[in-house]
Amino acid sequence: MTFTELWERLLPVGRDEHTGGYRRYSWTEPDAACRSWFAAAAAELGLVTDCDRNGNLWAWWGRPGGGAPPAIVTGSHLDSVPDGGAFDGPLGIVSAFAAIGQLRSEGFRPVRPIGVAAFTEEEGARFGVACLGSRLMTGTVDPGVARDLRDGDGVTLAEAMLAAGLDPALIGPDEPLLADIAAYVELHIEQGSALAGLGAAVGVADGIWPHGRWRCDFTGRADHAGTTRLPDRRDPMLPFAAAVLAARQAAADAGALATFGKVIAEPGAANAISSGVHAWLDARAPDEVVLEQMVSAIEGAARSAAGDHGVGFEMRRESFTPVVSFDPGLRDQLVRILAAAGLVAPVLPTGAGHDAGVLAAWIPTAMLFVRNPSGVSHSPAEHAEPDDCATGVTALAAVLAELAGQ
Ligand code: GLV
Ligand code: MN
Ligand code: MN
Repeated sequence: MTFTELWERLLPVGRDEHTGGYRRYSWTEPDAACRSWFAAAAAELGLVTDCDRNGNLWAWWGRPGGGAPPAIVTGSHLDSVPDGGAFDGPLGIVSAFAAIGQLRSEGFRPVRPIGVAAFTEEEGARFGVACLGSRLMTGTVDPGVARDLRDGDGVTLAEAMLAAGLDPALIGPDEPLLADIAAYVELHIEQGSALAGLGAAVGVADGIWPHGRWRCDFTGRADHAGTTRLPDRRDPMLPFAAAVLAARQAAADAGALATFGKVIAEPGAANAISSGVHAWLDARAPDEVVLEQMVSAIEGAARSAAGDHGVGFEMRRESFTPVVSFDPGLRDQLVRILAAAGLVAPVLPTGAGHDAGVLAAWIPTAMLFVRNPSGVSHSPAEHAEPDDCATGVTALAAVLAELAGQ
């Protein structure tokens, strides 16, 4: 089974016909179709598929536990942001299956089990907490809090999992599974254009900037757009607008990044002042002190503008990932393995979050990046060239052969 066959089978799943972007949200129909695709691909390779208590999928070449040496795991995620690209997540999983297919056809016999993981709700697009599957597995999110997370329609994670046939009472830390993993190596499309600038098809990750999401609620008073005098208004849109501009300024001042990418105005009438505005701040910085100062500056500006307009304001952190430094020994080993395979792989930092970043606090983890010519990601325009994807598979196969062959 080739990379192209696997890729093309997955390509139509969850793609919006108007935008060309993907809407693969966890525990929905497209997610179920992605999971079926995963199980079918694994079965064709003779791998055994498991779904763990937290809803993450695993395909195993050789079983972990029972006296086997700890496994080498690769993989990524199949869910998407709203109107995401085809590569963010799936590239890592398709490449994993293709690399295993290649190793099989070369007659390679792993000493350690090799696993392919598809972590659930990596983007947090439905329930708000990014990397939810790996956070649950490592115990970095409380299972009770997770069960009560709600999507935009008010459906809880517990209800969504139950409807998909899983028991939400069982979610939570999975120490035995973590103990069975010697290393996790995630292949991912680069979400920037550094490799393109360096003329390299693949790279190795160094670390991830600390980052998080904050929910901001501005509460005003609904009223008539045609009759309410300006001084009489309590319009939550105005402090929200001030917060957006403050975020841009604070990020520029800090050499960091701050984005309001999701906003809901209630009740959403074109001819009424909003009663409430709910907005999500995504903030990322080179270190945690800078991140904290930047978020405080944005919060202060939003609170002060809300006060000026008679609007209520509350801000709450929904998720956070501390700075991640990938295992230096494993990182250097990957660079050496790739060099031996004739691939020069630059070492790069990134501002994008990944399950590998969550797992890094528990097990040695590393990441391989595949060149993205435009650097565009979280957009239908995200792209990687077929030749670079093939190089990614070659690189991953070399890494798996080395790590699982001893
Ligand atoms: C995931 O892609 C993130 O960086 O938010
Ligand atoms: Mn993403
Ligand atoms: Mn991703």
